[in-house]
Amino acid sequence: MSEVTDAGSDEVLVELDDVEVHFPIKRGVVLDRTVGHVYAVDGVSLRIARGETYGLVGESGCGKSTLGRAVLRLEKPTAGKVVFDGTDLSGMRGEKLRQMRQRMQMVFQDPLSSLDPRQSVEALLVEGMRAHGMARDKEHTDKRLRELLSAVGLPSTSLRKYPHEFSGGQRQRIGIARALSVGPDLVVADEPVSALDVSVQAQVLNLLEELQSQFGLTYLVIAHDLAVVRHIADRVGVMYLGGIVEESTSDNLYAEPMHPYSKALLSAVPVPDPVVEDEREQILLSGDLPSPANPPAGCRFHTRCPWAQRTRCGSERPELREIAPGHRVACHFAEDIRDGKLQPGGAAAVV
Ligand SMILES: Nc1ncnc2c1ncn2[C@@H]1O[C@H](COP(=O)(O)OP(=O)(O)OP(=O)(O)O)[C@@H](O)[C@H]1O
Ligand code: SF4
Ligand SMILES: [Mg+2]
Repeated sequence: MSEVTDAGSDEVLVELDDVEVHFPIKRGVVLDRTVGHVYAVDGVSLRIARGETYGLVGESGCGKSTLGRAVLRLEKPTAGKVVFDGTDLSGMRGEKLRQMRQRMQMVFQDPLSSLDPRQSVEALLVEGMRAHGMARDKEHTDKRLRELLSAVGLPSTSLRKYPHEFSGGQRQRIGIARALSVGPDLVVADEPVSALDVSVQAQVLNLLEELQSQFGLTYLVIAHDLAVVRHIADRVGVMYLGGIVEESTSDNLYAEPMHPYSKALLSAVPVPDPVVEDEREQILLSGDLPSPANPPAGCRFHTRCPWAQRTRCGSERPELREIAPGHRVACHFAEDIRDGKLQPGGAAAVV
């Protein structure tokens, strides 16, 4: 595929094809009536190349975690295909799915709640290996445990300790070691540093990068913080209300965001240079994020879009189209906005 960057290979490891995850909203005494749906993920297609880091950003509730869980088949898609290394996982169940999971692991936001406090680090790390039949021989297991700890920068004396004896950053290192213990190809990291102090965030992100080259990992990194994604991702997908509205290489997205929503998101990030910061144009979005249980018709962003037009925006859902090589945008008027033929006004203010 052409849009894959130098950081990834040409080989597609993950392919999502029009994936939907809709959660039923139940009512009634025994919750037997479905009165609606939360359209958490609503028609996402994307590809991640082997060795690549794909970053997923967007506001709280836009469906990032649900999409990450769908990739790992922790959430069964309502519709669409999830293909991992050429195998369609959508209808896979039982033992086959369990075996496949060895190759796909997750790193969570809050290591303290994702690590069982009653288990020692050794027990935590061995658990997954045992489940996948990788911990039969004690000598080999001990060697592997020491290697894992050394890879994530922890001393081997950590094995006898418990999660509460570590700092937040160290606990996240344990969470990462646990994900790596079964030798995955893909790691989905859902907000891997947002629970950590700013000073520790960079260390953990650097560690993730080092481990990627050491073990040939492919990453899907989810974050609401654009700086985190910029630091680590080769390509970025911007999500809004269950759909991807823009996708491009990280450098392109930050240099020239094309979708009005990405423009607004990026315009809210402060620039370190005070002169640039003073002159910076900030796009303030009016209105609240609509509910994913009742998304607007047409372009989901039209209720808040400063560029919204009377024609098409309220009635026709824009497709994610390739507008420049490797740069996909879901906006009917992306070219006109880029070329300055349309000016913002109306739904939101530009200050
Ligand atoms: N199991 C579930 N049942 C019903 N609704 C759910 C379920 N999981 C998520 N949702 C809803 O789906 C929507 C998307 O949630 P999701 O957690 O994927 O968002 P997110 O982008 O990860 O948000 P955040 O940045 O806050 O983590 C939300 O409205 C959420 O309430
Ligand atoms: S399609 Fe219309 S409402 Fe949607 S982002 Fe483009 S201009 Fe805005
Ligand atoms: Mg989330």
